[in-house]
Amino acid sequence: LGWRMGRRYVLGIESTAHTFAVAIVDDKLNVISDVRDVVRSGETLGIDPKLTAEHHANVAPQVLEKALNEAGMDITDIDAVAYSMGPGLGPALRIGATVARAIAHKFKKPLYPVHHGIGHIELTSTLLGFKDPLVVIVSGGHTSILSFNLGRWRTYGETLDITLGNLMDMFARKIGIPFPGGPKIEEIARKGRKYIEMPYGIKGNNMVYSGLLTYAIQLIGRTSVEDIAYSLQETAFTVLVEATERALTQVSKKEIGLTGGVASNDRLYNMMCSMAREHGVKVGRLEKKYNSDNGVQIAVVGMLYMKSGYAPVPVEEAVIKQRIRVEEVEIPWR
Ligand SMILES: Nc1ncnc2c1ncn2[C@@H]1O[C@H](COP(=O)(O)OP(=O)(O)OP(=O)(O)O)[C@@H](O)[C@H]1O
Ligand SMILES: [Mg+2]
Repeated sequence: LGWRMGRRYVLGIESTAHTFAVAIVDDKLNVISDVRDVVRSGETLGIDPKLTAEHHANVAPQVLEKALNEAGMDITDIDAVAYSMGPGLGPALRIGATVARAIAHKFKKPLYPVHHGIGHIELTSTLLGFKDPLVVIVSGGHTSILSFNLGRWRTYGETLDITLGNLMDMFARKIGIPFPGGPKIEEIARKGRKYIEMPYGIKGNNMVYSGLLTYAIQLIGRTSVEDIAYSLQETAFTVLVEATERALTQVSKKEIGLTGGVASNDRLYNMMCSMAREHGVKVGRLEKKYNSDNGVQIAVVGMLYMKSGYAPVPVEEAVIKQRIRVEEVEIPWR
């Protein structure tokens, strides 16, 4: 069996927001198991931090057990534990961190805190085989354009107010669609026929979305919801693609990795591709299941830390950081 052949394994725990997940990867970054449990939107209006944490605490034992069973492994076969340290909801983050600390302490395993966004970034660039990409991360927690420079992932542009995921989810809620609204808005937008001009917020390489949200909400009931959804998407995505194009000309990369939940949107992906084509740049994204939160992204970063010989964190120093930014994280493997 695999783990008896000198292979090393990292178990990753994700709990920043709606998803509690555990995954195991090996040192070739093969996914050995990948188990997730998402809090149902019926249980919470939007994401309620307390109810989400309760959900995570309830499902944690089963998710962990299932991940080990799927891998045919015992917890003692694991070589290290990684967990999402942030950014995210404090109460939810604490559940994942507590489970990780308990395993590390009881079974004397090295422990690696992982920045959730770095998880999206590294999983995407690694699986796509992109060596030095411009990364566009679009999710509920992030809307940023990043590039690796001087040992860290650096932000070249980002939203100055709400994220692209929030924009879609908040608009969706106003028309009675529960969280996550993004996929449903994509469907509705496909039926839109008329483009309505909306506030176009771009400042340098940065995006501004709250005026657009207000504008779209005010149109509800006055014109077809399909046309509003369509125009909202077209405007929001064009802003992002233009900001990406501006960043691209500054850092001159040959690849763009699109990641985070909103990367699953085909319209956004196609718009990004047409812009990139004009510059001779390749765009890549992962299959949908890897765009939304998962344990694999955390396990992969844990494995990168372990393989690069980076010092694990003592259990008593393994904290959570609700608002940590990508720039704060040293990347020893690039
Ligand atoms: N097809 C789609 N079109 C637009 N948005 C989508 C689509 N699919 C998912 N989303 C959006 O993606 C977001 C969820 O993304 P994800 O699971 O990566 O992250 P998050 O936990 O909200 O934020 P972060 O990863 O930054 O902590 C939600 O806002 C959801 O509406
Ligand atoms: Mg995420």
